[in-house]
Parts: sequence; structure tokens; C-alpha cells
Amino acid sequence: MFITLEGGEGAGKTTQARHLADHLRASGHDVLLTREPGGAPGAERVRALLLDPACTWSLPAETLLHFAARAEHVECAIRPALAAGRIVVCDRFADSTMAYQGHAQGGDRAAIAMLTAMIGLRPALTLVLDLDAAAVPARLAARGTAADRYERLGATFFARVRDGFRAIAAADPARCVLIDAGLPEAEVAARIRATVVSRLPA
Ligand code: TMP
Repeated sequence: MFITLEGGEGAGKTTQARHLADHLRASGHDVLLTREPGGAPGAERVRALLLDPACTWSLPAETLLHFAARAEHVECAIRPALAAGRIVVCDRFADSTMAYQGHAQGGDRAAIAMLTAMIGLRPALTLVLDLDAAAVPARLAARGTAADRYERLGATFFARVRDGFRAIAAADPARCVLIDAGLPEAEVAARIRATVVSRLPA
């Protein structure tokens, strides 16, 4: 089973992906916990280029870099894990490109949909962590780490990303489940667990 976690900055995806993987492992499942951009050696190098505040990218180049990293990640890590019967929990996937480069940055959504189809792998379940954009700056500040290229983009951008994810979830309700990321961490984790457990094959 291929499960993705999506959402804007500061929504808690990385923490929740870890909680979910821990829970599934404790229930006896073999889990690959991975992330995008990244998740394979070459893709992690592309990640460093994408997040570096000193790099500027044209939108088509940025979009294609995300897909180049994704293609590598899918072929080298995700497909082999699924073929071995493992559950794959992935922190971001193709919906992030549609939300960030498509909806928020105004990129060509038809082209992003085509590239997503070319990747040829669709999550069985996508948990969309939904957080009010006004809550994002405080969450990022609480991390106390230097802001990457995307985290520097500000409140208007975060609101467009959120709208993008909500539109994606509304358009594909069979795959996407919206989770209120403003709830306490343990409550978010419990909702994610319940959703995943209800979808696991018996
Ligand atoms: P992270 O902070 O969740 O690790 O993700 C890194 C950043 O990359 C985040 O700000 C969102 C951005 N991103 C895109 O803009 N498009 C994509 O396709 C992906 C996977 C991430």
C-alpha cells in the first residue's frame, strides 16, 4: 500500500509520517518511510538544489527538477518496496507539485498532470494535513531552524498552497482525506491512524 502525507509548511507532515510509520511497524507491518523531494541518493542531491535559498529557478525548471527527483525516487525506492510487499509512507508526493508549482506559483497544471501520469504511480491513500495559513509563521518560527527557499515565501503564498491542496482533495475524495492539522499532535495522529487502519486490506 502506497500512502502519502501532503500539506503546506508547518502542518506537521514529517512528525505525523513518523508516528504513522511507528504505529504500522508496531502492528507488524514492514514499512518504508520516505520523503520528497528526496528519498533516493540522486533525488536528495536535487532536493538540496531546490531548497537552497541561494539558487533561483525558473518555474518550468523547478517543476521538472521535482519530477526528476520523483522519477528517481519512484524507480529506486518506492516501486521496489511495494514489489516486496512493504507499506510505503511518503512525506509529500505529486500533489505537492500541483499545489506549489501549479496552484500557488501559477504553473501549467495540465503539464503537471501529464508528468504525474508519466510517473505512473498513484497513492492508494493521501492524507492532506490542512492548516490555516495564519498559523504557519508561528509554527515555522518555533522550529528555530533557518528558513529554506519555500519557507521564505510568506503568508499569501502559504494561503495559495493551502487552497491548492483543498482543491486537489475535493476533486479526488476517493483517494484524499482532509485532516485538521490545527488539532493537538496526538489527536491528528489518532485520526490518521484510524483512517489508515480502515483502508488497510484485511
Ligand atoms: P518539506 O519542507 O516538506 O521537506 O518539503 C520541502 C519543500 O519543497 C516544501 O517547501 C514544499 C516544496 N515542494 C514543492 O514545491 N514541490 C514539490 O513537488 C515537493 C515534493 C515539495
